[in-house]
Amino acid sequence: MVDVILGLQWGDEGKGKIVDYFAPQYDIIARFQGGPNAGHTLYVEGKKMVLHQIPSGIFHGNTINIIGNGVVLDPVTLKKECDAVAAFGVDVRKNLFISERTNIILPTHRALDKASEMAKGESKIGSTLKGIGPAYMDKTGRNAIRVGDLFRADFQQQYQELSRKHRQLLDNFQFSEDISAWETEFFEAIEFLKTLNVINCEYFINQQIAAGKKVLAEGAQGSMLDIDFGTFPFVTSSNTTSAGVCTGLGVSPKQIREVLGVTKAYCTRVGGGPFPTELHDAMGEELRRIGNEFGATTGRPRRCGWIDLVALRFACMINGVTQVIMTKADVLDSFEKLEVCTAYQVNGQQTQEVPFQMVGADIQPVLQGFAGWNIDTTSVKTAETLPETMHTYINFINKYIGAPVKFVSNGPGREQIVHL
Ligand code: GDP
Ligand code: IMO
Ligand code: MG
Repeated sequence: MVDVILGLQWGDEGKGKIVDYFAPQYDIIARFQGGPNAGHTLYVEGKKMVLHQIPSGIFHGNTINIIGNGVVLDPVTLKKECDAVAAFGVDVRKNLFISERTNIILPTHRALDKASEMAKGESKIGSTLKGIGPAYMDKTGRNAIRVGDLFRADFQQQYQELSRKHRQLLDNFQFSEDISAWETEFFEAIEFLKTLNVINCEYFINQQIAAGKKVLAEGAQGSMLDIDFGTFPFVTSSNTTSAGVCTGLGVSPKQIREVLGVTKAYCTRVGGGPFPTELHDAMGEELRRIGNEFGATTGRPRRCGWIDLVALRFACMINGVTQVIMTKADVLDSFEKLEVCTAYQVNGQQTQEVPFQMVGADIQPVLQGFAGWNIDTTSVKTAETLPETMHTYINFINKYIGAPVKFVSNGPGREQIVHL
């Protein structure tokens, strides 16, 4: 049995906190896509921890954590993260497992990401510059080096061939930065990676499932950043949606049970691209300030706006969401009035559907107003003691998106969550 937790917006919905909260109910937590572009924040013993590639179940003693084949893995970031979690007493050799089919991010992938973004100028994606796009291009282009290849006798040759190809591309971009220091740390990190548990993940996970173990698949990024269904080309390079679980872990669709979608009570986006409900005014500033909306991976200020129900309903449909978790509801505590987007005016025409192409279109949100609750909700523990105005807000959302909000997160702490 596999349950899924994934983001329904443009990322940073609070997936890390939510996975950490649910982790004790599962035997295995598995990342199925993305890479070090992700930044999942959780609090361990009161200390803030941001995970990029290691699943958010790593701090729960006996939970097995898997980096699946759908992930693109940067050995350098992984080594740093392993050191960081070891400081909390976590033994990664005991409970971290990596698929031998996982694709590796090379130093030249990072350089190519940078060169490509520079060449795009004003129309750049706003990539995290972690090499994600180029690494997935080598996967679908059938050039990639995978974790299992590190153990091959001809790995060095494979590396040289691929990096030679990359250098030709970099020359075309007229990219001349010296990346030799990146290569040195890469090879050191490779040696470290080879000492970790590298497994045939598809057999492992299916045997575990057959033995009755429960798996939680942890999504990265958000549904609106999905390579197929997001706001293309301002997206990431993987399927962030629930279908990615099957191809990213080697499990069949019939194993998937619950799909828990995470959304903020408002909306944010980091990087370029369409964002119909974005607020460019003082209200947007307030959301950023109160919500502390700065990227966990890059530190960039996140763009902020009202919740977009058109995009949210679309995301629930694509993912087959069975339950919704609404995070950061407390960030709205001091707002007297709230708004939600119930339709778009696209080039003058009203629609409740996400258009094929949002880039370049004139998209105006149709907004509906709601009263705020105007009280501090951060220590509320039960549904009955949440303000009535919050219930009204949530009930409207439930009805619109056709999926029930089952949990409300009212603070970053593990214990700050209310079951509805
Ligand atoms: P992820 O990428 O989806 O895991 O989310 P991030 O970690 O990038 O960003 C979410 C941020 O919101 C982190 O700083 C979390 O600590 C914080 N957070 C999560 N849930 C809540 C919540 O309910 N309320 C508040 N105030 N902060 C939250
Ligand atoms: P988590 O898992 C928010 C955004 C980048 C950029 C676009 C492409 O923490 O929610 P990429 O580096 O993938 O080529 O960047 O996607 N992006 C994210 N935004 N949260 C993330 O991950 C993101 N990962 C990528 O800002 O706009
Ligand atoms: Mg994040």
